[in-house]
Amino acid sequence: MNRRARFLEVLGVSEEWVPRHAPALPQDRTAEPDVAADLAADVAAEPVAAAVAAPPEAPAAAAGDAAMAPPSVRDRAGPEAAPRPPAEIHPEIRPEIRPEARTEPRTEAPPALALAPAQPAMPASAGSREAVIAGLDWAGLEARVSGCTDCGLCDRRTQTVFGVGDRQAEWMLVGEAPGENEDKQGEPFVGVAGKLLDNMLAAVGLARGRNVFIANVLKCRPPGNRNPEPDEVAQCEPYLRRQIALVQPRLIVVLGRFAAQSLLRTTTPIGKLRGSVHSYEGIPVVVTYHPAYLLRTLSDKARAWEDLCLAREVHARAGAKA
Ligand code: URA
Repeated sequence: MNRRARFLEVLGVSEEWVPRHAPALPQDRTAEPDVAADLAADVAAEPVAAAVAAPPEAPAAAAGDAAMAPPSVRDRAGPEAAPRPPAEIHPEIRPEIRPEARTEPRTEAPPALALAPAQPAMPASAGSREAVIAGLDWAGLEARVSGCTDCGLCDRRTQTVFGVGDRQAEWMLVGEAPGENEDKQGEPFVGVAGKLLDNMLAAVGLARGRNVFIANVLKCRPPGNRNPEPDEVAQCEPYLRRQIALVQPRLIVVLGRFAAQSLLRTTTPIGKLRGSVHSYEGIPVVVTYHPAYLLRTLSDKARAWEDLCLAREVHARAGAKA
C-alpha cells in the first residue's frame, strides 16, 4: 500500500469505489461495455486495496461474519450474506412491472425481467392511519413524519430523518434507519457508510440528489444503534410506502438485510435475496449489501458491484425517462 493510501486508511477515508482506470459511467447508462467491464474487473480484482475504514490492525471479516460489526456506529448492518454466484437476468417479459405508476405514457420497450413476488401488504381500511398517510402529499407527509410520536423512538431522537434527493427520481435507495450522524444532521447516510454509498452511486453515474431519492425504513434513530423493533417498523412502514408511491421510482435498490427483509416482507437471508429481481408494489427491487457491512467486509465489494450492475440493467430495461 502506498503512503497516501495508508494515510487515508488511517484517517478512515480513502478513494474507495473510485475506478482507477475508468471514468464514472455516464448518467444515461449507455457507457461502452468495456468501460463498465474495466471498472467491474478493477473492483473485483482488488477490492481490499480500494477500500476504507477499518482500523489498520482490524482483520477483514469473512463473509457474513457478524462479529466484525462495530457497535458504536449505526453504520452497522447486521450479518449480511454468504457468497453467491453472479446475478442472473431473467429472459422472460413481465409487463406488469409498474403498470399504473406514472402518468406520462411510456414510449420505451417493455421491461424484460421476471420479478420474484413479495408478500402482499395488508390493504389499508378507510380512515385508518395507513389510509390517511397513503393520502398525504409531500408536504403533508414530511410534516406528519417530523411530528410523529407513534412509537417510542420519538422520545430519544434529535430529529426525524425523512429522506433526501430528487423526488421524481428513477432510482430509490432504501436503508435501515438513521444512525448518530443522521440523527444529528437530519439526512440519511451522512457518515462513513454514506461516503461509500456516494462512491457506489458515482460508479454507476448517479449522485445523491440527482435522479436518486434515499430513504430509510425507519425515520428515527433506534437508541444505541440497536436493531429496530417490529412495532417500530410497522409504525414507520406506511411512511416509506407513501414515499415510494410519491417518487414512483423505476427501480428500488435496498441496502442491507434488514431493509430488504422489511420491504419484501420476508425472512430470506440477503445472500438468497441478492442476484434476482424482486417486486414491491410492481416496482422492481434489487437487493445489495449495506455500505456499513461493505466497510467491514471488503471482500464483498465485488459482489456489491455485481448488484449495482444488475440494478443498472434492471433500470435500463424498465425504460429510462424520456
Ligand atoms: N445506515 C442506514 O441504514 N441508514 C442511514 O441513514 C445511515 C446508516
